[in-house]
Amino acid sequence: MTVPIVRPRRLRSTPVMRAMLAETTLEPRQLVLPLFVAEGIREPRPISSMPGVVQHTLDTLGKAAVQAADAGLAGVMLFGIPETRDAAGSQALNPDGILNRAIAAVRSEVGNDCLVMSDVCLDEFTDHGHCGVLTPSGLVDNDATVQIYAEMAVMHAAAGAHLVGPSGMMDGQVGAIRRALDGAGAQDVAILAYAAKYASAFYGPFREAVASPLTGDRKTYQQDPANVREALREVELDVAQGADVVMVKPALAYLDVIRAVREAVNVPVAAYNVSGEYAMVEAAASQGWISREPAINEALISIRRAGADLILSYWALDVALRQA
Ligand code: PBG
Repeated sequence: MTVPIVRPRRLRSTPVMRAMLAETTLEPRQLVLPLFVAEGIREPRPISSMPGVVQHTLDTLGKAAVQAADAGLAGVMLFGIPETRDAAGSQALNPDGILNRAIAAVRSEVGNDCLVMSDVCLDEFTDHGHCGVLTPSGLVDNDATVQIYAEMAVMHAAAGAHLVGPSGMMDGQVGAIRRALDGAGAQDVAILAYAAKYASAFYGPFREAVASPLTGDRKTYQQDPANVREALREVELDVAQGADVVMVKPALAYLDVIRAVREAVNVPVAAYNVSGEYAMVEAAASQGWISREPAINEALISIRRAGADLILSYWALDVALRQA
C-alpha cells in the first residue's frame, strides 16, 4: 500500500485549525441589508414569498436601521413603495414622497453609525412598472429617464443618503447623477452603481415586495444572462463616469461575473444576493430539505470568494446577529 507523503487533511483536523486557515471572511461590515418601506400602512406587512422580510412603516423602518447599525452592518439599502403610481413615476420626485421621507428618517436615526443607501430607480413609482418613463410608442425613454434619476439622486442626497444606487440600467445614468450631485454641492455622496444587472428570474419575490405592476420583462435594458464581456463593458463605462462602487446582480448565478469584474477594475465590487436566491433557500429550509444556516453561510461566502467586497443580502442582519 502506498501512503501519501502530502496530506492536506492535516490542515482540516480541528475547528481552530480550519478557522486559522480560512481564506475568505464574512463579516458584518461587509454586509448591507435591503429594507422596504411602504406608504400608508400602519403595521409592517409580511412579504409571503420572502419569509422574515416585511414592508416597513416609517416607524419600524427606523428601528430596523438602528438594529442594523447596532449589529455592525455596513449599511441599509432603502426601497420605497408609494401609495399612488402614475406613468411618470412622479412620487419619486415628491420631496415628501415615501422614499425621500424614509431616507431622512433613517439618517436621523443612525447618523454615521451605518451607511444610508437609496435605490435610484422608477419601477416602484410607475404605474406600468418599468424602470423609466415611456415614449409615446411604449419604449423606455433612456435620456428622459436619466434626467429624472439625476433629480432623484439630488433629493436623496439632500435627505441624507451616503450612497445612491442607480439600478435602472439606463445608459449614461452614472455620469448624469455624478454631475447633478456635484452641481448640488453633494460631492461627498457616493454612487453605488448597479453596473452589471441582469434580466433575471431571481427578482420574482422582489416584485411582490414592491407590489410591482410590471407585465412583460426588462430585457431592453437589463443584461442577457448569456453575457460576461457585456458586463465588463458596462462596468468600465460606469467607472469612467464616476461610479465609486460597482455592483453585479444577481450574485449566485453570476459568480464568474463577479470574479471577472473584480479582476477588471480597482474600485470596490458589490454583489446583490437577490430575493429569489433568498426565497429558494428559505423555502427549501422550511421543508427540511436543506439546513438553513449552513446553506446561507455557504452562499454568502461563495459570493465573497468570487471577489465581492460587499454583499447586499436579506440575510445580513441574521448573519451578523448569529456571529455576535
Ligand atoms: C429595480 C430593482 C429590482 C431589484 C432591486 N432593484 C427589481 C428589478 O430589476 O426588477 C431586485 C432585488 C431583488 O430581487 O432582491 N429597482
